[in-house]
Amino acid sequence: MNRIEDFIRDIPNFPKDGILFKDIAPLLQSPRGVEMCLEELLKLIGDQKIDKVIGIESRGFFFATLLAQKLDAGFIPVRKPGKLPYKTLSQSYALEYGEDAVEIHIDAIKKDERILIHDDVLATGGTAQAVCKLVEKLGGKIVQCNFIMQLSFLKGKDKLKEYNVKSVLEY
Ligand code: PRP
Ligand code: MG
Repeated sequence: MNRIEDFIRDIPNFPKDGILFKDIAPLLQSPRGVEMCLEELLKLIGDQKIDKVIGIESRGFFFATLLAQKLDAGFIPVRKPGKLPYKTLSQSYALEYGEDAVEIHIDAIKKDERILIHDDVLATGGTAQAVCKLVEKLGGKIVQCNFIMQLSFLKGKDKLKEYNVKSVLEY
């Protein structure tokens, strides 16, 4: 197991029939896998200065906290509705059927702070696009949106055209 993709497991028909779920649990179980993945995510950022790293609940949290530590930046959780205890800003986004929302604490970002948004997977891009809107409403500058993997066939990048979108793996 020398490549990051060796630590990502395909689970057919999860969470619904017809969906091939990319499971990062084996990656998280391997200190070497986590180290390799963290190194690759850091390479995507290069020497760009980052003030805060956003992790998107829940699978974005794992690497976002590690990235924040390495980049000497703060960590900000973006959470699903009703989970954050202080005053929040909320952004809804469309799902295939219905809608969902993400929330951020209103004091999480100061004007012009340089923000890295991280999540495990970029699929349709709805989640990340909603997070970008939250960051901009709070006056942050989005330096990069980075992901462990993007599922290119779902065209999530099209929703994030104005941003610098990077991923370690592409399917
Ligand atoms: C998954 C994944 C991303 C999002 C991508 O999260 O971890 O956060 O979907 O989808 P999109 O690009 O189509 O918006 P999920 O909602 O399954 O929750 P979890 O991270 O808590 O497992
Ligand atoms: Mg998620």
